[in-house]
Amino acid sequence: MNFERNILITGGAGFIGSHVTRLFVNKYPGYNIINLDALTYAGNLENLKDIEDASNYIFEKANILDTNAVDKIFNKYKIDGIIHLAAESHVDRSILSPMDFVYTNIIGTVNLLNTAKKFWTSFEGKKFYHISTDEVYGTLGKTGFFTETTPYAPNSPYSASKAASDHFVRAYGETYHLPVTISNCSNNYGPNHFPEKLIPLFINNIINKKPLPVYGDGNYTRDWLYVKDHAAAIDLVFHKGKDFETYNIGGFNEWKNIDLVMLLCKLMDDKTGNAPGTSEKLITFVKDRPGHDKRYAIDASKINKELGWKPSVSFEKGLSETIDWYLQNKEWLKNVTSGEYKQYFELQYHRR
Ligand code: NAD
Ligand code: TYD
Repeated sequence: MNFERNILITGGAGFIGSHVTRLFVNKYPGYNIINLDALTYAGNLENLKDIEDASNYIFEKANILDTNAVDKIFNKYKIDGIIHLAAESHVDRSILSPMDFVYTNIIGTVNLLNTAKKFWTSFEGKKFYHISTDEVYGTLGKTGFFTETTPYAPNSPYSASKAASDHFVRAYGETYHLPVTISNCSNNYGPNHFPEKLIPLFINNIINKKPLPVYGDGNYTRDWLYVKDHAAAIDLVFHKGKDFETYNIGGFNEWKNIDLVMLLCKLMDDKTGNAPGTSEKLITFVKDRPGHDKRYAIDASKINKELGWKPSVSFEKGLSETIDWYLQNKEWLKNVTSGEYKQYFELQYHRR
């Protein structure tokens, strides 16, 4: 079959990647969607069960650090667009094991850039779209927002590795005119999120009546966005975003961790029939995360004004849907926290 476009999505078996892959496979039957993923602990093909037989979807197990494998896939499918999501993504893990982040996030990204540069003899109709995070900007005080021109000041090994990869992407645009676009997004939440990050970890712990480890005093602020809204923004930036530009994506939805955890506890009690206050009793204040960023908040007015994007799902609705998904998918939760995955799930620095 002759496809209109051949798009490589890296990290398509992960949390955000699986939502982006599903959206593209369903919305663009004329596109061939090739999902390249190494299936680390965070990648799971169960996330894509509903589309695995689609005629415009192909899975290729490969590591972005493996130049030969990436070159072969590029050549085989005549890739003309890349949406690059593959990464090591958890801050706590980066504190314990920074080199994994250097390899995948920095060297892996440069490897992909080199492959695109090598195979794309003309840049007409090509796009290298790099998915990044607002954490590259460091931390905010009580007021203000991150804009596209905020200077980079990453504080964790994770955000430093993402910042480095953003710089390489930008530099390949400047130096080689590779048609690159970057977006920097705030904290995502939703179905298929590996239970190491705040929201899915705490849902899983409440289900299993385990303590809810709140770092420090819990007065840290994050700006939460429903993952399907992020996927919609990625679709828009991929098709309408300008080359050599950056777009900030955020939820206009700031929550202090402790307030969010209290809300989550209440919703979990409501939905599981527990007596009010049951889940709250599991809250345990633990040692703070080293280098813990105080506050993230995105000014998403550029993508709003230029591309017309804004979040469509309210936090109450998104969080409720997310909890329902986890309650209905306990088998998924069990699978990703047991067997070979157990060691990853249990890796939390404050337990050391
Ligand atoms: P995730 O950890 O859930 O998934 C990462 C995916 O990448 C997994 O499927 C994994 O198997 C794959 N992968 C990891 N190393 C690889 C390698 N060397 N080669 C090939 N595949 C590899 O991550 P996520 O939360 O879905 O994040 C996706 C992207 O979005 C990342 O680049 C992350 O920095 C960025 N981001 C995430 C958030 C968030 O809140 N989760 C917010 C903003 C930006
Ligand atoms: P996380 O989900 O790891 O995302 P990020 O660090 O990339 O923002 O953490 C969100 C916030 O929740 C952050 O301030 C750290 C805090 N946190 C806890 O208090 N306890 C936990 O067990 C985890 C995983 C996070």
